[in-house]
Amino acid sequence: MSDGQWSPSTGQIVVSGLTKEYKNVRAVDNLSFTVEPGRVTGFLGPNGAGKTTTLRMLLNLVTPTSGTATIGGRRYADLTDPLRHVGAVLEASSAHKGRTGINHLRVICAAAGLPKQRADEALALVGLTPAAKRKFKGYSLGMKQRLGIAAAMLGDPRVLILDEPANGLDPEGIRWMRGFLKGLAHEGRTILVSSHLLSEMQLLADDVVIIAAGQLVRQGPVEQVIGSMAQGQRVRVRTPNAEELTTALKAQSATVAVDEHGVLQVDGVDAPTVGRTALAAGVELHELTTERPDLERVFLELTAGKAGIR
Ligand SMILES: Nc1ncnc2c1ncn2[C@@H]1O[C@H](COP(=O)(O)OP(=O)(O)OP(=O)(O)O)[C@@H](O)[C@H]1O
Ligand SMILES: [Mg+2]
Repeated sequence: MSDGQWSPSTGQIVVSGLTKEYKNVRAVDNLSFTVEPGRVTGFLGPNGAGKTTTLRMLLNLVTPTSGTATIGGRRYADLTDPLRHVGAVLEASSAHKGRTGINHLRVICAAAGLPKQRADEALALVGLTPAAKRKFKGYSLGMKQRLGIAAAMLGDPRVLILDEPANGLDPEGIRWMRGFLKGLAHEGRTILVSSHLLSEMQLLADDVVIIAAGQLVRQGPVEQVIGSMAQGQRVRVRTPNAEELTTALKAQSATVAVDEHGVLQVDGVDAPTVGRTALAAGVELHELTTERPDLERVFLELTAGKAGIR
């Protein structure tokens, strides 16, 4: 990097004891977590949990009541040439309406002392080159989101912070975003992205930070967070001999429930045990599936009762 204050290992984000109190609410409450370079970290929490406030404190747009947030060991306010280090997409559709996409980016380049050709490169990076000369007011929501990402990428930053970037994107746009962000993480960049789309987060994120009511609920690799849930795997069984199998499974101290389609939901034993039990009982099986809990189920369990809106 140009001013030599960064080494390749310093794209880590560290949030430590961060608190923001507004008049009527403690929006962020003694929050601590870390975000590692080379990974996509999903920042999750119910509405009003404090995600945007945290991201805004990271970017020096909101002053913390107490605690610190650093990027590569420095507070954002202490970075010289911050756009070269940290890209941020906090909300789409903030551009001069009559300006073309390319001109919007060129204005930012000029203001930040970045070479003009970065505007063309960033536009190409997000696939917007065909719309370069169209006016911003004619951009679709998804195109505005892409332009916001292009603006964040102008300084070729090592760290990218995005607040709900998938809002308004169509399935193709979401898939594009996933590939784009994963690619950036693969290059060693730090990607912190908030989202409500839990199924998408499960595909996108390597790590998650889950907050509720301003406080940390859980952080870690997605697989580990999902695996840590008390209620583990469940086995789904379809059989024409449900009663017989239920009796046999209960004798193995399994818990068996039947859903509205007559499918058995078996807890407490694994699929091989169910298969062996069925075989021993001479019961025919039409389906035997292990269902892992997904991020959505884990999120809802972890944040249950911690209402986001305060
Ligand atoms: N400028 C402000 N003045 C007063 N209260 C605020 C301000 N900004 C945020 N809050 C409050 O802080 C809490 C956290 O809000 P925040 O926007 O950080 O949540 P969020 O996790 O981003 O929610 P969402 O998922 O809905 O975007 C909310 O109760 C909100 O009303
Ligand atoms: Mg928000």
